[in-house]
Amino acid sequence: MKQSITLFGLLWMIAISAPIHAQATEHNMEEMNHHMMMQSKDGVSDKRISLQLNPQQKQHQLANMRSHVQAVQEIIGMLSQGKFNHASTIAHNKLGLTPEMKKMCNMFDNANFRKVGLAFHQSADELGDVLKKGSLKQSLRALHNTMNYCVQCHATYRQ
Ligand code: HEC
Repeated sequence: MKQSITLFGLLWMIAISAPIHAQATEHNMEEMNHHMMMQSKDGVSDKRISLQLNPQQKQHQLANMRSHVQAVQEIIGMLSQGKFNHASTIAHNKLGLTPEMKKMCNMFDNANFRKVGLAFHQSADELGDVLKKGSLKQSLRALHNTMNYCVQCHATYRQ
């Protein structure tokens, strides 16, 4: 209910600002875009689904995420040096569906979030397998596929 009121308010604002919009200079447009971005930062118009995590869960998730981004950085570094086997080990151990990661994903209440999380880790194991073959092009394609899950999940969910 609260959300639909907010949405209605937003639509109304857009509607009344339409005539201003029409004659807005480029500068004004930039300012308006900036304003919209500011709004989403404080959560007012953040339309992503909240996972309703408690403070401990939040810290835990963020630490886990920082380790994910580090793993991707390490894999890229290894690729640049042609160290495919090492890159494969990182993919399997740090991003793959280890028993620990599986347990962590299954702790979330949101069923679709769990599904995306598990599919993400599975894709990282596939990445690990592709890396072993030693083809840079195939490896980049697999890494791109795994990173689609990062992008997709971040666009849909927040803490
Ligand atoms: C299944 C969902 C999901 C996947 C997949 C996922 N993340 Fe996240 N990540 C989240 C959520 C939720 C947050 C918290 C975002 C928020 O509340 O704004 C987050 C936050 C982060 C942060 C912020 C950490 C901090 O300390 O502020 C980083 C960095 C990050 N993710 C990196 C990654 C990378 C890199 C990948 C892929 C290799 C990835 N994530 C995959 C759900 C996911």
